[in-house]
Amino acid sequence: MFPLTIKMHFSTLLFVLSISVVYSQDRKITSILNPGCHACTSYDTLLYIRADGSHDSVHQLWDFTQRVPTVIFVISNLNSTLNITWQSEVPKRFIMSEEPKYSFAIALDKLYEYNDTEDNGYINDDSPRRQFPLSGFAWMRNDLVQADNEVKLLMQAHFLNDHRKGTIGVKLDLLPFKDYAVDLPHLIHTANSTLIDINLVNLTCSDDYNASRFALHYLLVSTDKSNDTMNYTERKSLDDEHTPGVFEIVEIRTPAALNGRAGGFLQFRPVAYTQPLRGVAASTNAHVSNFDRAELRDDTTLKAFYRNFDRNYVLIQDMFISFGGSGDEYYKHYNYTSWSYTVGYGEPPKESFSLFVIMIISIGLGIPVFLALSGIIYLIVRRYKQRNPPTRFLDDE
Ligand SMILES: *[C@@H]1O[C@H](CO)[C@@H](O)[C@H](O)[C@H]1NC(C)=O
Ligand SMILES: *[C@@H]1O[C@H](CO)[C@@H](O)[C@H](O)[C@H]1NC(C)=O
Ligand SMILES: *[C@@H]1O[C@H](CO)[C@@H](O)[C@H](O)[C@H]1NC(C)=O
Ligand SMILES: *[C@@H]1O[C@H](CO)[C@@H](O)[C@H](O)[C@H]1NC(C)=O
Ligand SMILES: *[C@@H]1O[C@H](CO)[C@@H](O)[C@H](O)[C@H]1NC(C)=O
Repeated sequence: MFPLTIKMHFSTLLFVLSISVVYSQDRKITSILNPGCHACTSYDTLLYIRADGSHDSVHQLWDFTQRVPTVIFVISNLNSTLNITWQSEVPKRFIMSEEPKYSFAIALDKLYEYNDTEDNGYINDDSPRRQFPLSGFAWMRNDLVQADNEVKLLMQAHFLNDHRKGTIGVKLDLLPFKDYAVDLPHLIHTANSTLIDINLVNLTCSDDYNASRFALHYLLVSTDKSNDTMNYTERKSLDDEHTPGVFEIVEIRTPAALNGRAGGFLQFRPVAYTQPLRGVAASTNAHVSNFDRAELRDDTTLKAFYRNFDRNYVLIQDMFISFGGSGDEYYKHYNYTSWSYTVGYGEPPKESFSLFVIMIISIGLGIPVFLALSGIIYLIVRRYKQRNPPTRFLDDE
């Protein structure tokens, strides 16, 4: 859009300016690994994060204890506490000191391999498929950051079954202030949301499928009427400055978010990447399926958590996210797919023009306007002087 060198100079200038502005945190965060668990080892991961704002607290649970990556949000008054009781290394009960205001959750429960015989890119009802419940994977904790300005968790899974190779990586990152993520597609994170990256690396494809692609199966839960539905919207961004070539932003909101109350949301760009080094050339499409009604299995953290709530007020749906586009030669062409989204509470953040664009626009519009205005003023002044010669005693016509 703009010559690179100018952009680089501006970027340097802005960087210098921005480091002099200390980020103020919108919420104070504290995190505890496996709170209250005595039997847990380094193979068990349930991270509890509490983010206190001025009026309320957002509690998050990032759970892998039952091998199904699960993120639960609970919104409560500032004073509320959340306690967990464990049976060995499995969380059994979640006890809030007072009724929470709202809760929603997302769990990645299955990986699907589908044969995309029509080369559409997305999974549809007719696609032959095989499912791999994530409970059939072994999870390892690769990295954990628990600071007061960031909480980050990196998990990696491989098949327990020896016939299949490859790994699934999950990164969760909470930064308690509003900014664009460092990596493409530069989603916006806030104190109310968590950034999640998923990657599917070197997964074995089935011999009997000649057009293998992979899809993620998600469960979405919220404390709304059980017969209500999650809402899908796609909107266009102002420009593609942050995600070159991608103007669309997808938002999935819980019903509460639509009825004027604060609810939960997922936000992402319909783009995935086929190489670890993300770039425009290594991008492909991410497709969202329709939502269907779903159930929670008994042996899941979601079930343990939502058991305490009135069933009529627990909405449970599922969806697929699939990756690829026609003519891209399927998953095996790169053996790599990564995708990012944010999950958060409240109004999904909107992108704004960056300072760089605002400066360019101001300069671009400002100079002509300034020239035009000074021309007009000059003319007016000149005409005024001609019509009113500086001789005080002459009458006007
Ligand atoms: C929170 O705790 C403080 C002090 O413990 C108390 O004064 C206040 O009333 C409590 N607020 C609520 C909403 O319970
Ligand atoms: C986070 O949520 C609170 C309400 O809980 C809201 O007041 C605030 O504006 C939200 N912050 C952002 C950055 O969305
Ligand atoms: C995936 O396989 C490629 C080629 O065999 C290899 O270079 C790469 O390191 C593998 N990636 C991972 C994360 O194992
Ligand atoms: C896959 O196999 C089917 C039939 O076995 C064939 O019609 C189709 O063209 C094949 N697709 C590719 C990409 O080779
Ligand atoms: C992907 O993996 C398959 C089988 O594991 C291999 O045959 C193929 O060459 C790999 N592709 C790339 C681009 O590494």
